[in-house]
Amino acid sequence: MASPEAVGAPPEVSAGIDQKKPSKQQIDPYNVAGEIDDSGNTKAIDYDRLIEEFGTQPLTEHHLRRFEEVTGKPAFRLMRRKLFFSHRDFDKILDAYEKYGSFMLYTGRGPSSGSMHLGHCIPFLFTKELQELFDVPLVIMMTDDEKYLYTRNKNDGVQKKGNAAEDFLEYAHENIKDIIALGFDPKKTFIYTDYEYLGGHFYRNTSEFESLVTFNQASGAFGFNASTSIGFAAYMAKQCAAAFPSSYPELFGYPDYRPPHYDPSAQRRHKALASIPTLIPCAIDQEPYFRILRDRCERMTDPHPKTCLILSKFLTALQGPGGKMSASDPNSAIFMSDTPAQIKNKINKHAFSGGRETAEDHKKYGGNPDVDVAYTYLSYFLEDDAELEDLAQKYRSGEMMTGEMKARCIAELQKFVGEFQERRKEITHEVMRTYTTPRKMEYGGNPRVKASPSEANGSLTETPAAAAAGKDGRGTKGERKAAKLAAKKEGKLPVRQKDQDGGGGDATAS
Ligand code: TYM
Repeated sequence: MASPEAVGAPPEVSAGIDQKKPSKQQIDPYNVAGEIDDSGNTKAIDYDRLIEEFGTQPLTEHHLRRFEEVTGKPAFRLMRRKLFFSHRDFDKILDAYEKYGSFMLYTGRGPSSGSMHLGHCIPFLFTKELQELFDVPLVIMMTDDEKYLYTRNKNDGVQKKGNAAEDFLEYAHENIKDIIALGFDPKKTFIYTDYEYLGGHFYRNTSEFESLVTFNQASGAFGFNASTSIGFAAYMAKQCAAAFPSSYPELFGYPDYRPPHYDPSAQRRHKALASIPTLIPCAIDQEPYFRILRDRCERMTDPHPKTCLILSKFLTALQGPGGKMSASDPNSAIFMSDTPAQIKNKINKHAFSGGRETAEDHKKYGGNPDVDVAYTYLSYFLEDDAELEDLAQKYRSGEMMTGEMKARCIAELQKFVGEFQERRKEITHEVMRTYTTPRKMEYGGNPRVKASPSEANGSLTETPAAAAAGKDGRGTKGERKAAKLAAKKEGKLPVRQKDQDGGGGDATAS
């Protein structure tokens, strides 16, 4: 887990790629660094060890088959190649989709600067594929508040130029445009910044969640210490409460309770929305938040099913495995705003090679694609399995040289970033505002699950608890009880695990 010092250091600077003192592998939301051995060499991140330490599950062939069975479609390349390699209850979200036809997707971004890099895009690309395939609503949280509080905390409370709350809100707007340009469907995607959206039922969930986490538990997970600002320490509750569909009543056709609309039917949070399951795709650095979340889902006044996670590895820094792409070191990352020439230069100059010292040796003994950064990037972005396998085989045998692998990678990344930039040009402020306006989401869910009138409307009200809901989403007490009993009889209620809070610092608890 994070050391007490962890929170004082920026994630990007402490990425570990230049650090030479021996140290253990450290992965948490604010640090990503492979182990440094006694000789000062940075080792690749050990993902098997992370699974063990965090207590998550590996994504196996069984899950891929189950995914294909439930969706009727082949598994995505990022799953096939186990770049999304771990999960918590991914099987349960598939079960829920098979039975009830829908769930909510949730992911996010901490807008630390005006442009995202390729690594940040990975969870979003995957989420977009999930959204298209499952046809479900998606919320994207932009944590301008987190980045403000984190940065100020890191600078010992001093606010520097470009680091005011408003600056982070501005970065959030630019990042939202980047995210939209990745291709999300406006009908079923809600993107918000914390500074603009937090309030109403979301804030009630946050408050309640804050009451369930002690400072000790949060420190265990994030390495807070006595000098951590109370704002930064409390932020984590927001990232957790954001996973509850009941934080977003309007997306599901229910009223919120905010000025100027004080709809009396929305004075209380809508119980019906608490039964909707959520899936979070993200890289594994964010897992500490959701471990704390899962331990408390069922302790909320309106208990929510435990949030499910699907977790990716990090798109490595150009300098090689052992660090992740980082916004603060321009030479470690390819930015979505980079020109074709910049992409070419960065790969040619900085991408760590798995090739041999000399061309002769390379031809004779072959190279290692597993540590070759150009090949690694191709494994994320090249769709064709056969071509990828062919590249690996030719590299291993020495038939293909490092320069050729880099050229193939450059071409693929230039294409991806170039097409992105074309779409990004079209994203105006008005387009952005269509995504950030709270509104009822329109989605179809699982076509194999018989649609009810409410689902045809794009609402999730066919989930078990929601089936009991009246017009205001709550129904009468009697109606709710009767529907609950009926659902139980039919075996329709989602199974809620009974493992209670193991404390935020207990890595394997949830
Ligand atoms: P942030 O902005 O650090 O990262 C955004 C998303 O990108 C993932 N990520 C990466 N994935 C692959 N390779 C990399 N090199 C890489 N670097 C970052 C992160 O895991 C994340 O999924 N606190 C969050 C914002 C947030 C959030 C969420 C993220 C709020 N709610 C829910 C995920 C899910 C943050 O600062 O992310």
